[in-house]
Amino acid sequence: MIPAAALAVLLLQLCLPMAAAQVTPGAGTPPPRCPTSCGGVKVPYPFGIGNGCHRPGFNLTCDRTRGREPRLLVGSDLQVVEISLANSTVRILDRAGQVKLTFSEGLDGNGTWGGLGAGGPYVLSEMRNHFVVTGCNVQATLVGNGGVVGCCSSFCSINDKWTGVVTSSAGYGGAACSGIGCCETPIPIGRPSYDVEMRSLDASNVYADRLPIAVRIAERGWFEGASTTLLNDSTGYSPSRQPAVPVVLDFAVDSKPVVLPGVATSGCPVDARRSACQSSHASCHNVSGMYRSGYVCRCLDGYQGNPYLTGGCQDIDECALPGMCFGECTNTAGGHLCRCPRGAQGDPLIRNGCIKSSLGEHQNQ
Ligand SMILES: *[C@@H]1O[C@H](CO)[C@@H](O)[C@H](O)[C@H]1NC(C)=O
Ligand SMILES: *[C@@H]1O[C@H](CO)[C@@H](O)[C@H](O)[C@H]1NC(C)=O
Ligand SMILES: *[C@@H]1O[C@H](CO)[C@@H](O)[C@H](O)[C@H]1NC(C)=O
Ligand SMILES: *[C@@H]1O[C@H](CO)[C@@H](O)[C@H](O)[C@H]1NC(C)=O
Ligand SMILES: *[C@@H]1O[C@H](CO)[C@@H](O)[C@H](O)[C@H]1NC(C)=O
Repeated sequence: MIPAAALAVLLLQLCLPMAAAQVTPGAGTPPPRCPTSCGGVKVPYPFGIGNGCHRPGFNLTCDRTRGREPRLLVGSDLQVVEISLANSTVRILDRAGQVKLTFSEGLDGNGTWGGLGAGGPYVLSEMRNHFVVTGCNVQATLVGNGGVVGCCSSFCSINDKWTGVVTSSAGYGGAACSGIGCCETPIPIGRPSYDVEMRSLDASNVYADRLPIAVRIAERGWFEGASTTLLNDSTGYSPSRQPAVPVVLDFAVDSKPVVLPGVATSGCPVDARRSACQSSHASCHNVSGMYRSGYVCRCLDGYQGNPYLTGGCQDIDECALPGMCFGECTNTAGGHLCRCPRGAQGDPLIRNGCIKSSLGEHQNQ
């Protein structure tokens, strides 16, 4: 055992250099000691694990619980599986599998989704997720700050067994979730969290036990792929067997709530040096939604890499890419030149597009 005093000294020694190496906002290089991945998931700046390794708000944690694969986490229990700087998205797995509902009477109840901090960089991606509800004769409403964001109802008919949902859906190109046994609707306002209200549309609740009631926010297309198993699973329904659900979040730097609809409160700093876009080959793009505004950085056309790091966007060697040029290719900063070789003319952008010209040959002699 390490005596408490020795431990304190040890901690002090460990912590001091970290505090000294705190990254100031805007400065685009995390110290080399910062982890660059966790559990096989890459963690690019502005994201980071640990003090001084991230931009404010972009802290992630690496859960190294013994006997388990390390897991990259955002918030308390959302597992990060992919970070895309180019799309400004974070793909997560909602391990809870569904919104935990508290029923007040019968099938009327409510719950919440998310719990990602209101002032943080993340909101649910409006483009990439759906509100998905399974159950018989129920209506679920997605609520954000008191206002209705989405609503859908799911019915079960008297004669059809709900398993018919699965079999019939196959014939409709995967439109499994169209109001019978399941309903699905877009989420037009991306927020960090939502309230969910559940209402029974059938006072007798006769069909209530046909399908387990579940409310999920899920990446678009997920339910179509999972429905067969999910609805099949429900025959031997066990609440502990909830598959983790993929969800896509949008992130932005300097994310601030929009006070008046459509009026952005935050965006690219006028002084470009103060922005998070630290690469000299990066540009800043305003993000403005119904809920919040902010900005993101992107590498300029012809460059790729990390726009948030000094020197992070690197020139793409287009000449090394297959199919870009079938003539003589010269890579340039941010672009490339593609010409037919000397003595040939035509279209160098298509295979065999350059034809030896007699005129050219004469000139070459
Ligand atoms: C970042 O760290 C703060 C303070 O430790 C914590 O409250 C917050 O939940 C963390 N954010 C994320 C997204 O993990
Ligand atoms: C980025 O966005 C494009 C277009 O929506 C999508 O096809 C691609 O899968 C996304 N990539 C990642 C890593 O999210
Ligand atoms: C959820 O239900 C509880 C208990 O019935 C109630 O106290 C609470 O106000 C409800 N919340 C919402 C957002 O409806
Ligand atoms: C449904 O579950 C049964 C028993 O668990 C299994 O044998 C069957 O393959 C499943 N069907 C589908 C379509 O997943
Ligand atoms: C981006 O937002 C900033 C600050 O809100 C604003 O000054 C600027 O005009 C916006 N730029 C564009 C291209 O909309």
